[in-house]
Amino acid sequence: MNEQLSNALVSIQEQEAQESEKPPSTRPRPARPWRVAVIANVRGQSAPTDHQAEDAGAEFDKPETIQAIQAAIESDGHSTIFLQADASLPGELQRFYPDICFNIAEGLGGDAREAQVPALLEMMHIPYTASRVLANALGLDKTMTKRIWREAGLPTAAFQQFEQGDEPLDPVLRYPLFVKPAREGTGMGMGEHSIVHTEEELRKQVQWVLNNYRQPALVESYLPGREFTVAVLGRPDACSYSRKPEAYEPDGFVRFPVLEVDNNGTATPGVYGYLTKTLHTGEKGVPRFLCPAPIPQRLSRQLQELAIKAHKAIGALDVSRVDMRLDNAGNPRLIEINTLPGLTPNFSDLCVIANAHGWTYNELILEILILGASRFGMLQAVEPIALPKIKEYAQISRK
Ligand SMILES: Nc1ncnc2c1ncn2[C@@H]1O[C@H](COP(=O)(O)OP(=O)(O)O)[C@@H](O)[C@H]1O
Ligand SMILES: [Mg+2]
Repeated sequence: MNEQLSNALVSIQEQEAQESEKPPSTRPRPARPWRVAVIANVRGQSAPTDHQAEDAGAEFDKPETIQAIQAAIESDGHSTIFLQADASLPGELQRFYPDICFNIAEGLGGDAREAQVPALLEMMHIPYTASRVLANALGLDKTMTKRIWREAGLPTAAFQQFEQGDEPLDPVLRYPLFVKPAREGTGMGMGEHSIVHTEEELRKQVQWVLNNYRQPALVESYLPGREFTVAVLGRPDACSYSRKPEAYEPDGFVRFPVLEVDNNGTATPGVYGYLTKTLHTGEKGVPRFLCPAPIPQRLSRQLQELAIKAHKAIGALDVSRVDMRLDNAGNPRLIEINTLPGLTPNFSDLCVIANAHGWTYNELILEILILGASRFGMLQAVEPIALPKIKEYAQISRK
């Protein structure tokens, strides 16, 4: 080997050694298969840090959900590992060096716990699925989300945030009102007691939220009408990467059937609260889930379009689930958006909805993974299917 060539080889080896010491970068990534880290907070293994309310940590996942996600990803030939979303995560990420993370982590405390893992992954230049930092922070904060929706002209119930408890009530708010923690999920802090009819009940409930959840209380007009939840999946360029391109409409979003949650006669009548959300199918007090919702096609389309607008308004990416109710005039009002919707097979709303649309659990998980990977240059865009063909499909599916 001549000297020039051997010097060049040494230099390449040195460069490679330096490269491997670098923190993970988004490029280059292997075409496939990928090393995928499923990141979550598992019940009993992660502890919430902020408050000790009875239902603290209710959003944390069960090991079976993680296993189901891993199995779905592995069914496509990738290897997976589970990483706990706690203080061990930065070290574990350095050690495992995933090509991409499938993020469902609820996070541990602070004002934007659902944004903690995305923020860490951004800092480490590691690709991940679903929404980025800001949308996850906003989505968790129901008051901030409503401010953005209001600014965007989207319909949401009138509201006021209480931080001290003794703030004068905004005169636009009329009883009955609904009181909830501003930054939780899974019905935490919500039940029949959330509906208040008098100043005395209001003050008591606001104080209870402030004391128990150590965060502001959100007070809204009570929405007495039917309740719906709408799944959002897609992005303008989604069908260039999707395994199911025919499922996307020309704007890049899937129109899944609307799910109606019938709260009559449940464990927390009229409210899809914590107690009701933790019951299992078949148990007494479970709401009736109707998918597709028995509503006129026009209303269903209106709810689907509203959900997509709500998703885009906060900058959510790829997947979310939007909760709504009808007000006393029968008009839809946005309640909240879930940027990390639950993914427990045959149980979580998003899984039930996808299933009602003819999608398997594995198809749903892989679609979320593929959409995430495509944002980081890990997939080559396939030839987008001809627009007329999509339009044709859209018309058929709307009938
Ligand atoms: N303004 C409201 N009016 C009537 N019911 C409400 C209102 N806000 C919330 N709820 C009820 O409480 C449930 C949980 O509220 P939500 O804001 O979706 O919290 P979570 O993040 O825990 O799902 C809703 O599904 C609905 O049944
Ligand atoms: Mg909800």
